[in-house]
Amino acid sequence: MNQTQFIQQLPKVELHLHIEGSLEPEMMFSLAQRNNIQLPFATPEEVKTAYEFTNLQSFLDIYYQGANVLVNEQDFYDLTWAYMLHCQQDNVIHTEIFFDPQTHTARGIEFATVVNGIDRALQDAEQQLGITSRLIMCFLRHLDEESAFTTLAQALPYKDKIIGIGLDSSELGHPPEKFLRVFAKAREEGFLTVAHAGEEGPVSNIYDSLELLNVSRVDHGVRCSDDAVLVSELAEISMPLTVCPLSNTKLKVFEKMEQHNIVELLRQGVKVTINSDDPAYFGGYMTDNFLAVANSHALTEAELAQFTQNAIEASFISQQEKQVLSAKLAAFMQQKATS
Ligand code: HPA
Ligand code: ZN
Repeated sequence: MNQTQFIQQLPKVELHLHIEGSLEPEMMFSLAQRNNIQLPFATPEEVKTAYEFTNLQSFLDIYYQGANVLVNEQDFYDLTWAYMLHCQQDNVIHTEIFFDPQTHTARGIEFATVVNGIDRALQDAEQQLGITSRLIMCFLRHLDEESAFTTLAQALPYKDKIIGIGLDSSELGHPPEKFLRVFAKAREEGFLTVAHAGEEGPVSNIYDSLELLNVSRVDHGVRCSDDAVLVSELAEISMPLTVCPLSNTKLKVFEKMEQHNIVELLRQGVKVTINSDDPAYFGGYMTDNFLAVANSHALTEAELAQFTQNAIEASFISQQEKQVLSAKLAAFMQQKATS
């Protein structure tokens, strides 16, 4: 088995995936047609050529525009189901998915329409594909605290379907502190918390996510390398980072994959994981992200498997469920060693 085959077959766990970011141009067109929505592009190919980003904001502008084609519960179902089929193809055995309700409720779409469509596809995927999942609701940080509180209130009847609360969108100018009170309320209500921090923003956003928002994981977090003390502390407390290699190079967080710090962080003992973020926009799903890292850094099979083990440990499932996933990974490594 060569390394490409090893990566393709390796059991994987995804912890950083925006479901709206899995909207492929072809589906964008078919949903636009189904819902009678005018797109500013003539063909799916034209959409793809528009995906040249210079920073996070240049991506977000296009990403929010694309999400306008999602209207009915079936649209959210179809979007999520298509992503779960990619998981099956990439041997993703568990996935924790972000969704951005404010992107939809601001257009008059009911909160229930969004959650029920996504959840129904996740249930079907567990039954038909054997892939487990959890759902995490993100607040858009460019919107105000009041809108986040309104969104949290909308989520309360869906506690059985939503395990955690996250924070995404434009990091610069919207520090964690802005959401201190709504995150405190979310934790009081029993939600786990995560936050995007240290993607484009400074290390202070990583410190503040840990101290003010009490996050269980940091999304991205790659700017931690600006502060050696922080890197040691992240390793010391086993704080997971959900790193997204293709996203980081597409949004110019790193100019080239060779310059990406994920392998250095792994070897410094930080609990880093590999994730796809917005695969329809950044050029690949989980296997592609693993391949991009492995093709630019010399990695052993044990190190590649460590990314999955880290993600299992960092996931929001029970200890018992973690043991089941760890056993699947161990069985794969064992079988590969004897084949
Ligand atoms: N960063 C911030 N917000 C986002 C991202 C991201 O990488 N993807 C989707 N929303
Ligand atoms: Zn993200």
